[in-house]
Amino acid sequence: MTDVHYRAPLIEDAGALAAFGRETFIDTFGHLYSAANLNAFLDRVHGLPAVAAELADPARAYRVAEVDGALVGYAKIGPMSLPVANPPATALELKQLYVLPAYKGQGVAATLMAWALDQCHARGARDVYLSVYADNPRAQAFYRRHGFTIVGHYKFMVGDHADDEDIMHLQLWD
Ligand SMILES: CC(C)(COP(=O)(O)OP(=O)(O)OC[C@H]1O[C@@H](n2cnc3c(N)ncnc32)[C@H](O)[C@@H]1OP(=O)(O)O)[C@@H](O)C(=O)NCCC(=O)NCCS
Repeated sequence: MTDVHYRAPLIEDAGALAAFGRETFIDTFGHLYSAANLNAFLDRVHGLPAVAAELADPARAYRVAEVDGALVGYAKIGPMSLPVANPPATALELKQLYVLPAYKGQGVAATLMAWALDQCHARGARDVYLSVYADNPRAQAFYRRHGFTIVGHYKFMVGDHADDEDIMHLQLWD
């Protein structure tokens, strides 16, 4: 397989990351939503201003995977925003993890996950949470393999459309 290079993105990468986030979200989930709901969500979450602000935020961290200088995947961690009752103050969230279809099953996502868990550990988090669409069996299997278990459910809003999401949790140490 082609060499995959991993690095921390710079603020100059905001445009490429925003475009990649939009494209991968549309490829994976676009069929679930109306155009109005999808565009509202993409502008809010994967718009250039949002991505640039998050890249500049020290409470968040990104890792990108590239092949020949082009993005093939990324992961992002940051503060808890999931509706979990009384999470530990140090808990962190794996907020996004995407790889291009051609790079699924190639270990790229596993390398990004290893980075995400190392980052959470280095930032003092014992508890890591994430949310996953309830009908995304591939992602759920991947997260289970990395030790996450389902601890709750909530409605994830895409525009005015509510999706069923599972909240998953991993305790990094006792
Ligand atoms: C989720 C994602 C990051 C996982 O990376 P990946 O490289 O595909 O993961 P892997 O191939 O290592 O593992 C996938 C697991 O799902 C299993 N799987 C594959 N297709 C499946 C399916 N249709 N149903 C159930 N399980 C499936 C694989 O066998 C593997 O399980 P195993 O480790 O027990 O053998 C990647 O698929 C992705 O980017 N998906 C699109 C975006 C996305 O859904 N992101 C997560 C949002 S929460």
